[in-house]
Amino acid sequence: MEYISAELTKIVANTKKYTTVLFGGSGTAVVESVISSVVPYNKTVLIVNNGAYGKRMCQIADAYDMNYIEFKSSPIKPINLKKLKKVIKENNNISHLAVIHNETTTGLLNNLDDLGQIAKKYNLKFIVDAMSSYVAIPIDMKKQNIHYLLASSNKNIQGMAGIGFVIANKKYLKKLEDIKPRNFYLDLFAQYESFIKSHQMRFTPPVQTLYALKQAIIETKKEGVKNRYKRYSKSWKTLTNFLKKNNLKYLVDDRYHSKIITSIFIPNGIDFNNMHDYFYKKDFTIYPGKVEKFNTFRIANIGQIDYKDMKKFIKLFKKYLDQI
Ligand SMILES: Cc1ncc(COP(=O)(O)O)c(C=O)c1O
Repeated sequence: MEYISAELTKIVANTKKYTTVLFGGSGTAVVESVISSVVPYNKTVLIVNNGAYGKRMCQIADAYDMNYIEFKSSPIKPINLKKLKKVIKENNNISHLAVIHNETTTGLLNNLDDLGQIAKKYNLKFIVDAMSSYVAIPIDMKKQNIHYLLASSNKNIQGMAGIGFVIANKKYLKKLEDIKPRNFYLDLFAQYESFIKSHQMRFTPPVQTLYALKQAIIETKKEGVKNRYKRYSKSWKTLTNFLKKNNLKYLVDDRYHSKIITSIFIPNGIDFNNMHDYFYKKDFTIYPGKVEKFNTFRIANIGQIDYKDMKKFIKLFKKYLDQI
């Protein structure tokens, strides 16, 4: 567990100042842990909602009856930073800014450089859900002024599901002692403190998932994060070149795209379930869309696949479209 904690930290920060706190649980567990553990009772967290996962942060804050402000933003366009700054200036009680890095709903990539600068300017702690960007898109916690970075064992790190983790500055983790826990299992300070004392998770760890994560880290180091993102990007380019050539539209403009998951408009006359079952029988799984007002489906290009697999998929996609 110490190896895992140190190696996960090294990908985005210096282990002298930052550390990784591990939890048994899916990604949402650590989002809930951070939202519920780091915001003082008399303070407000500003949450950017530009997709299902931003909305989920609001639902968590709601469940704990916390003070929060929901900043609603387009699911397909960059955040209006002027408007965001206006909200911060008008509410002097805000202490934390929370955003999703890659909104997995659409593939929209929020700009951490800009948002981190805003957090710095207004003296806010910056919470980033990097569930589907960590270990692909470069992140530098110090440079980007990120205080809490959240991810899980089963996305770009390519391990098994079951572990969520929080990478944070030790100085700020220590200060969390002053905030009365709002829950028990997800208490971030207690989990951090326990790890320092016992070098273990506070409660029964998902041992088999930890072994898989250790192996996933070894494989990540072998490939290198840069090369991994290059591989993902090549698969994405293969897919989007095909879409462009065939006049199929996708939700997010290339300039703001994470190149990790793509939300594609379902062409007229096509039923999602029918298309899903057709691909599924041929060993490909497509995902339903997650933005209510657009009729879309999603293709992810992460994991141990490359552009050759994507080529096989698009060949099949073409065949499916031609028979409709
Ligand atoms: C950005 C983001 N946040 C949170 C989650 C929730 O993670 P989990 O389903 O592991 O709880 C996901 C899952 O896809 C995600 O993409």
